[in-house]
Amino acid sequence: MTQDIRHILVLTQNSTLSESIRGAVPTSELTKISSESSTVSGMNGKAAELAFGHDLIIFEADPNDEAELNAISELSNGRRAGAVFIALTDGDVSFAKARRLHSAGVDDVLPTSISPEELTAVIQSSLTATRRKQTQATEGSSNYGSVIAIAQARGGIGSTTVAVNLARALQRQRLSFRRNRTHRVALVDLDLQFGNANVFMDIEDNGGFLKLIESSDMPDAKYMHSIMQKHRSGVDVLSAPLPIAPLNALRSDAAGTMLDVLRAEYDYVVVDLPRAMVDWLEPVLARAARLAIVTDTSVPCIRQSKRMLDFYREANVGLQVDLIVNREKKPMLRSQHLKEAEAALETRFAHWIPDNPRIARKAVDLGRPITDLFPRSDISKAFKNMAASTFAALPATTMTAR
Ligand SMILES: Nc1ncnc2c1ncn2[C@@H]1O[C@H](COP(=O)(O)OP(=O)(O)OP(=O)(O)O)[C@@H](O)[C@H]1O
Ligand SMILES: [Mg+2]
Repeated sequence: MTQDIRHILVLTQNSTLSESIRGAVPTSELTKISSESSTVSGMNGKAAELAFGHDLIIFEADPNDEAELNAISELSNGRRAGAVFIALTDGDVSFAKARRLHSAGVDDVLPTSISPEELTAVIQSSLTATRRKQTQATEGSSNYGSVIAIAQARGGIGSTTVAVNLARALQRQRLSFRRNRTHRVALVDLDLQFGNANVFMDIEDNGGFLKLIESSDMPDAKYMHSIMQKHRSGVDVLSAPLPIAPLNALRSDAAGTMLDVLRAEYDYVVVDLPRAMVDWLEPVLARAARLAIVTDTSVPCIRQSKRMLDFYREANVGLQVDLIVNREKKPMLRSQHLKEAEAALETRFAHWIPDNPRIARKAVDLGRPITDLFPRSDISKAFKNMAASTFAALPATTMTAR
């Protein structure tokens, strides 16, 4: 797909509506439009492929249909950088309805009764927005990789498991236009006191992080290169210091500089965060493109996730926060409890990792990512999907000359 051609997809079972949307799209050689007579949920397995291949997706949606909202949310997780979603709904678009659609990832909600002229104006401005967002993404991609921070709603919930396996799943992703190169991924263990990501990868701390903490100099590329440890999977790891360091021993400027140096070198920098809220989290959050809170759906975890969401969003207003439910299978239907939880959090649970103690235990004992040891397991599939949606949504430094 070339940069300048805008690919538009129309999804509706109403042929008259489909025709009027097609008629409202400004005609240009740089616009390609296709349509499917289907709802979003009716697209089943084709949804992710569609999200990746289009810049603007216009669909009819019923905000009261839970299955449809779930399908939109999944479609949105897999969208390409800069893609815009417009939903058309029957009747008045109340604030509550619009909000449900927005939290599923829709950018604009319009009534199906909208006039052709108004619809043309909205489509025109959405096409401009996709171009602007993609330019920003491409410009960003030539300079810096994306920092993905992983936090935990309670101790032992599985945040290190997520950090290790997401890092590996991202690293595995092949770049479509450079078939012989996969992503460069760094895993940084910032859980200074209890960090054990290196143990999950069978790596011994080389003392590099402690030296960085104790030094008054700012880390540069040469130093970071000397302390990053290569895991056989291809992920480079910065281990937490083996001797327990005071949490505030890391200086904020050193934390920020370290991440900047790594972002210049890697496509993704996955960071395992400590549970405590410390000063140096600010520069980390300021650089994060995305933050995942690993949680379960118990009331204490949901309450803690809410407190954390408020804290992180205050630190970085534009930060995209994903909730990852660990050790629970994605339910076929969302229970009342889940709906209430998502409403309280104002965020949907983006990913679900099933409980599979047997393989999780085996992987930690052998010091290998689950995704390497059991690539076809339910857990590995969840990480693969997670990496695919992260990959689609974030610009990677795929153009960086190295
Ligand atoms: N989906 C899963 N199914 C089964 N066991 C799991 C799963 N995810 C993690 N575990 C296990 O749960 C335990 C805790 O996981 P992990 O160390 O990743 O949690 P954590 O949140 O990083 O904990 P800590 O608070 O110590 O940093 C580990 O033994 C891990 O193997
Ligand atoms: Mg941990």
